[in-house]
Amino acid sequence: MNKQIVLVAGASGYLGRYVTKEFSDRGYAVRALVRNPEKLAAEGTNLEPATASLVKEVVKGDAADPASLKNACKGVDIVFSCMGLTKPQENLTSEQVDHLGNRALLEDALSYGVKKFIYISVFNAEKMMDVDVVKAHELFVSDLLSSGISCTVIRPTGFFSDMGMFLSSARSGHMFMLGDGENRVNPIHGADLAKVCVDAADSSEKEICVGGPDTYTFNETMNMAFEAVGKSPWITHIPMWVGDAALFVTGIFNPSLAGVLAFAVSVSGLDNVAPANGTNHLGEFYRDLAAKGETKQ
Ligand SMILES: NC(=O)c1ccc[n+]([C@@H]2O[C@H](COP(=O)([O-])OP(=O)(O)OC[C@H]3O[C@@H](n4cnc5c(N)ncnc54)[C@H](OP(=O)(O)O)[C@@H]3O)[C@@H](O)[C@H]2O)c1
Repeated sequence: MNKQIVLVAGASGYLGRYVTKEFSDRGYAVRALVRNPEKLAAEGTNLEPATASLVKEVVKGDAADPASLKNACKGVDIVFSCMGLTKPQENLTSEQVDHLGNRALLEDALSYGVKKFIYISVFNAEKMMDVDVVKAHELFVSDLLSSGISCTVIRPTGFFSDMGMFLSSARSGHMFMLGDGENRVNPIHGADLAKVCVDAADSSEKEICVGGPDTYTFNETMNMAFEAVGKSPWITHIPMWVGDAALFVTGIFNPSLAGVLAFAVSVSGLDNVAPANGTNHLGEFYRDLAAKGETKQ
């Protein structure tokens, strides 16, 4: 029997690499949609795997240029997309990438009769609709659900890669935290989330909310990062209103940066605990990342 072909959009990112590996391990033929194919050859900054040898085919495309996505879905059985704007990029908005880029991909998928579309949105989206990146994700979710294609929307909590930034701050010996740090989160490792994403290929569930196996307060996640680098915790808590004010000022001078920071500010002000899944623990991830940093120095 021929292998099923899956298009992974966002294949060069943290989650995209783990999903590529999981699909490949389960016998699918992976077509990677990326802007820069060279990226797939090296391990990522948060230990996500190199995938150049796992993909069957690479196609180049840019979400900001919908014409470049045309025919990406030709011959494809399943589309998985985690293509999204997670870092500031000059002159690019979440609306262009998360909403319109994914919509162009959906139109291509519909034109080629793709059987299933799996998309990564955000847990607690309904509480953060004033945040551009969340709104853009949800506008695409509406397009997807009304398109008639068989689909699953996955709503994860924070990824371990996002928690990786706490480790960078811990190395410097000091961290700032918005709010009192007592909100709770169950972050998830890319490999654990990838299993849920690939299981979705055969699932009839329309939406899946998912987090990692352990729940921590933000203060606990930061203390674990200090422990991993062998430093005493030194955390300065900043009132939420200061974060909102800083965001307002940043928005005037650097809207792209403000768009990305707005998500972090919103998440810090909420409990983000989704149904638990997976086996990877944040403390081990921090220790592995810290060890990698030591070998680099
Ligand atoms: N990180 C979290 O904690 C978290 C939590 C919930 C949901 N999510 C969502 O999950 C998705 C994946 O997150 P991630 O952490 O894996 O992000 P990531 O590592 O930044 O990966 C994003 C992927 O999208 C690609 N991309 C960005 N702009 C593009 C464009 N203009 N054209 C084509 N590709 C583009 C990136 O390509 P390049 O490598 O070329 O930049 C990369 O492959 C995002 O939609 C994010 O909002 C993330």
